[in-house]
Amino acid sequence: MKITVVGAGAVGATCADNIARKELCNELVLLDIKEGVAEGKAMDMMQTATLLGFDTNITGSTNDYAKTAGTDVAVITSGIPRKPGMTREELIGINASIVKSVTENILKHSPNAIIIIVSNPMDTMTYLALKSSGLPKNKIIGMGGILDSSRFKYYLSTAMGCTATDLQAVVIGGHGDTTMIPLARLATYQGTPVSNYLDTEMLKKVVADTMVGGATLTGLLGTSAWYAPGAAVAALVESIVRDEQKLFPCCVYLDGEYGQKDICIGVPVVIGKNGIEKIIDYKLNDEEQAAFNKSAEAVRSMNGALDNL
Ligand code: LAC
Repeated sequence: MKITVVGAGAVGATCADNIARKELCNELVLLDIKEGVAEGKAMDMMQTATLLGFDTNITGSTNDYAKTAGTDVAVITSGIPRKPGMTREELIGINASIVKSVTENILKHSPNAIIIIVSNPMDTMTYLALKSSGLPKNKIIGMGGILDSSRFKYYLSTAMGCTATDLQAVVIGGHGDTTMIPLARLATYQGTPVSNYLDTEMLKKVVADTMVGGATLTGLLGTSAWYAPGAAVAALVESIVRDEQKLFPCCVYLDGEYGQKDICIGVPVVIGKNGIEKIIDYKLNDEEQAAFNKSAEAVRSMNGALDNL
């Protein structure tokens, strides 16, 4: 099994670190355009192998895609992250050409790779990678919903005073501060609705905090977060390489599911060795469906910006 992570910034390096610690592959390539950075981070991580007890071989490469040949799963984190006060959407102009060319380079050397898109604005970058590569729709997955759901569970656990791993909660829709939809009605604490424990006001606050979860971190850190994004990518990669068939909200191409067509947006999907195995219908109520349609409209208008680049 060979995995490539493109982009050796904080997010890409943390993805690689988590993938190696979990020994999800024997070969892991970290690639970046900045001379020496991927090599340096790969070497640093390799020097943790005996301490952490993993046998994954991590190598770094400065933009030499020949080293990625035979990749089974590629994670694309390239592009610029947002700065405080910026939306993910403002990155489109710079990141679109980067994501397109990285996708082409990966597929030139690994035509069978499954591709995970992390670069923002993620929904539009996923759509761009799918359209420009012509890959089948099961092979391009955008990572956003897993991360947003993890943040949703964090805020719920804080409000409820319980441990987050006792919670189930899912965020669908776009991966944007105003487009994501934390599904409060369906969130549970060991099988019981969280509304048994939080009043409407509190639940509204949890939802609002979740939606700006990434922006809150960007404000604190001066750049976008990396620990939870890295862990979220590793969970997704694990379900692919171990064929776990786990259910995660991911950004995928819709062809009529959830009432939407010709768009990549977050919905619950089963992830396995083929990438996207199937989309699960959560049977949204009217209010949730209306929110989803509104989110799709916003993502679609962002995709429209691709035509003007
Ligand atoms: C975030 C970035 C990865 O939400 O979009 O932290």
